[in-house]
Amino acid sequence: MKRVLIASLLALVIGSAQAQYTDQQIESKIDSILPLLTLKEKVSMCHAQSKFSSPGVPRLGIPEVWMSDGPHGVRAEISWDSWAYAGWTNDSITAFPALTCLAATFNDSLSYAYGVAVGEEARYREKDILLGPGVNIYRTPMNGRNFEYMGEDPYLASRLVVPYIQGVQKNGVAACVKHYALNNQELWRDHINVEVSDRALYEIYLPAFKAAVEEGEAWSIMGAYNQFRGQHCCHNEILLNQILKKDWGFDGVVVTDWGGAHDTKESALYGLDIEMGTGTNGLTYSKVNAYENYYLAGPFLEMIENKEVEESVVDDKVRRILRLIYRTSLNPNRPLGSVNTSAHHEVARKVAQEGIVLLKNKEDVFPIKDEANLTIAVIGENATRMMTRGGGSSELKPQFEVSPLEGIQARYKNAKITYAMGYASGAPAYARVNPSPYDADSLKAIAIKVAQEADVVLFVGGLNKNHHQDCEGGDRKIYKLPFGQEALIDELYAVNKNLGVVMVSGNAVAMPWLPKAKGLIQAWYLGSMTGHALADVVSGDVNPSGKLPFSFPKKLEDNGAHAFGEISYPGDSIMQEYKEDILVGYRWHETKKIAPQFAFGYGLSYTDFSISNIQADQSVYAANESITVSYDVKNEGLLTGAEVVQVYVGKIKSKVPRALKELKGYQKLNIAAGASQSGSVAINATDLAYYDESKAEWVVEPGDYYLYVGNASNDISKKIKISISKKSRS
Ligand code: BGC
Repeated sequence: MKRVLIASLLALVIGSAQAQYTDQQIESKIDSILPLLTLKEKVSMCHAQSKFSSPGVPRLGIPEVWMSDGPHGVRAEISWDSWAYAGWTNDSITAFPALTCLAATFNDSLSYAYGVAVGEEARYREKDILLGPGVNIYRTPMNGRNFEYMGEDPYLASRLVVPYIQGVQKNGVAACVKHYALNNQELWRDHINVEVSDRALYEIYLPAFKAAVEEGEAWSIMGAYNQFRGQHCCHNEILLNQILKKDWGFDGVVVTDWGGAHDTKESALYGLDIEMGTGTNGLTYSKVNAYENYYLAGPFLEMIENKEVEESVVDDKVRRILRLIYRTSLNPNRPLGSVNTSAHHEVARKVAQEGIVLLKNKEDVFPIKDEANLTIAVIGENATRMMTRGGGSSELKPQFEVSPLEGIQARYKNAKITYAMGYASGAPAYARVNPSPYDADSLKAIAIKVAQEADVVLFVGGLNKNHHQDCEGGDRKIYKLPFGQEALIDELYAVNKNLGVVMVSGNAVAMPWLPKAKGLIQAWYLGSMTGHALADVVSGDVNPSGKLPFSFPKKLEDNGAHAFGEISYPGDSIMQEYKEDILVGYRWHETKKIAPQFAFGYGLSYTDFSISNIQADQSVYAANESITVSYDVKNEGLLTGAEVVQVYVGKIKSKVPRALKELKGYQKLNIAAGASQSGSVAINATDLAYYDESKAEWVVEPGDYYLYVGNASNDISKKIKISISKKSRS
């Protein structure tokens, strides 16, 4: 209320409440405000005043900046001075599926719908910055936060991050793309120094951030906790000053990760704009002084007063912050937002439906028909567990969360649904593992009995949001399924061979039990509509069309990051070297010919598709031309469905080591049963470039390339040879 009032008063003082400001108008308003601010006021805008806000300047009606996590929904209100929830009763929201699920949709327009919906909720909750999306590349299945990111491929993440940002920002809420950059582990995230080649940096780890800035025009970005080349990423000369602000022309605000700043001079000079979360919880530090002691508070002021740092440094930060304020809270056209609407629930359901991946379906165990006399035993803790709880900062307080069991019970009217927990874990907690309160043997014995009496067993297991599972602040410790699930699956199989598995996780797991499962569904974390979306797919109301956004290695050592010992992951606690270099994910599997359990881009449907008539529009291209690949896709089955055609490119005989193939385009086509559809993907020849470290520039190598067209990184229908000529065509 107070903020609305301030905003309206301010509109009278420093802005008209009519049309949206042009960039030029915003800059000239900032020009006129900057001289009115005292040095102290300017410095005060560069650091937190509470856990999730930074101060405005009440004297001039400049509003505070309010932030919230992100990225799967708007987090419940946190206390002013501590991490404790504030206990509000009006802050429940829609939980959207995890970003791994969004990535699995391979559907750019769904990403936009997701962004619009979560942005509307953020706006309704009066947030100026939504702390998301996350686009750190999936490097190892052990990373506890992979579920918050968009998978292992830089092209896929780049395509999907852009519409998400545009959707959020349409609401006058800034997206805050995180964690820039190279935050690929949780174990030592606070300090680990990442050594990575320039090639891997530019080709693998930066493209999604670059797309977020250049195409998505993100208004803010969050620095990562870790170090890069000996400097913390929240004040890193190379990443922030050179690459982000200079090369990419980022004109928004760099926010620290919470507690990510470590030095005043570096924070002042190396690209940071707002410092958040530095060691204050209102308990161990004085409430009165804590924020004043931030690196970008008192010590920063002193440095400017002592002329160790020029005043223009703070002016630049304040200019960026004011720009963000004009784009958000002072945008006169900012819509009002909404929360928990049926439209938002539908977006959540649709993303979940399209992101669920069918990985195995022997003897058509799925879909399971709703027939009288059929008993379906739903077994597993994840069938009833709330997955919006735990996980760290992405934890949510949804208005409701339909569990898998509830969704199945709601959908199946004729079949008999039975349930047993089968195994159990403890309650989620941050940085701590709670033991299970139940007796494992009894749980197992009951589950076996329930399975024995059923016609079909649907095991709903996987990971969860506990510490050392899919959770911030710690990595996984084992690649296999936790909580005794492997043994349980074996025993269920011993009594009932009609076994389908639903894997709830944001990460790959080892699957020695796979031969025992007739069917396997990768169901991610699906948010509010979890159970309904899962039941939609299990029942066949929705034909699955999701594709894996990361590889599932058979064993951990088959993953590139783990092929070089501990120095590559997790490092020696001080530093780690990304020894697999550019060969991340499927690039490693394909180039080294190590077959994964399930490949990047893979996913089945209840119908079959064939891709034919695959052609490139030319055989020789100039380096500034576009390559168009066209094809026909036929739905060979009896159900309407969607197929994702994927186009990979590989250089034949390169000067430098290259991945055998890299995704350069995709298209998702919805096709009626029995029908055919033509499609095409256009690729700029410039996108075939590699990053030449010696020249520090992108180079398109002339010569021969293969275009690989298929429906998974390891399932290629046709390979076409093309070449790129030395000359550009005018
Ligand atoms: C996380 C960020 C999050 C921030 C605020 C940090 O611990 O790494 O992703 O936005 O906390 O909750």
